[in-house]
Amino acid sequence: MRRAWWILALAVALAGCRPGARRPRRLTLYCSAQHEWCELVARRFEESSGIRVSMIRKSTGEVYAQLWAERGNPKGDVWWGGTGDTHFQAAHANLTRPYRSPRVPELFSWAQDPMGDGENRTTGIYMGALGIAYNREWLAKKGIEPPTGWQDILRPDFKGEIQMANPNSSGTAYTALATFVQLYGEAEAFKLLLKLDANINQYTQSGAAPVRNAARGEAGVAVVFLHDAATQVAAGFPIELVAPVEGTGYEVGCVSMVRGARHPDEARAFIDWSLSPEAQGLAAEAHAYQVPSHPQATVPPEAPRMEQMKLIDFDFGRFSEKAVRGHLLKRWDDEVKGRGR
Ligand code: G6P
Repeated sequence: MRRAWWILALAVALAGCRPGARRPRRLTLYCSAQHEWCELVARRFEESSGIRVSMIRKSTGEVYAQLWAERGNPKGDVWWGGTGDTHFQAAHANLTRPYRSPRVPELFSWAQDPMGDGENRTTGIYMGALGIAYNREWLAKKGIEPPTGWQDILRPDFKGEIQMANPNSSGTAYTALATFVQLYGEAEAFKLLLKLDANINQYTQSGAAPVRNAARGEAGVAVVFLHDAATQVAAGFPIELVAPVEGTGYEVGCVSMVRGARHPDEARAFIDWSLSPEAQGLAAEAHAYQVPSHPQATVPPEAPRMEQMKLIDFDFGRFSEKAVRGHLLKRWDDEVKGRGR
């Protein structure tokens, strides 16, 4: 009898190990969009595909650093969300690999092949404009005139009132840095950043944090993507959005497949799904108000109207070059951070 039990136990164990036995399918997702959106996307993909998702939310610059650190032994499969310039840089550094989803032709032209090399080393998933957000109750209490653009937030009455992210970790803040250089030229941009530094009360790690803090009264003003400000408005906070009168930059948020992904089939399945109108429609459910890259995805009424803003002709190619990005970040570290105060 005892022998029979042993044989049965052995048979069960061997069945689990036989080649072709079904192992759970998995995907490791690095996500640089808003946390709530990342969580919802991971959950819904898991439900619809049966693929188990491990999701890690990190800011754009941090994912880049992680991909670089793991390049000899990649652990991630897909990088979804975050500003396109850093996805471009990851592609240039061979940290990601081309994948042209069959859904690409359905997308808006700005999203189809953002690097424009016909290879789909990355693909656009959303668009959003940079701007200024302020807490109207906070400003009213302090008797400060609301800003209309970049020059206004340099005024001395904003001293200690402003938050933005650190451009080393945050794609949002790097977009701001690149925007100022394109609007004013590098020398003037760094003068502006130094004056702005005099008014900064904190450089946060993630791009959306400044407006969350302004909503809760920890700052009066935030330099952010305006869709992140719209999220706070929808949550009932006294936040106002400003599309700067001087003009502003914008992002194309991207999705890329990690080079050496351990689960390439699952990675492709995720990318295909994430480009569908249904998946993109989840943004509104997570109160994420970017413009989706699929024309049939619903644009929530809360989404800032980019067509009504003065947008610059953003040079994504130039500002994703390693040398340009490295130079601007080093200059910001050396000449700006904490120097204006
Ligand atoms: C927020 C925005 C996204 C943007 C991302 C970049 O989540 O909603 O549109 O792509 O920030 O994140 P980071 O923390 O790198 O600025």
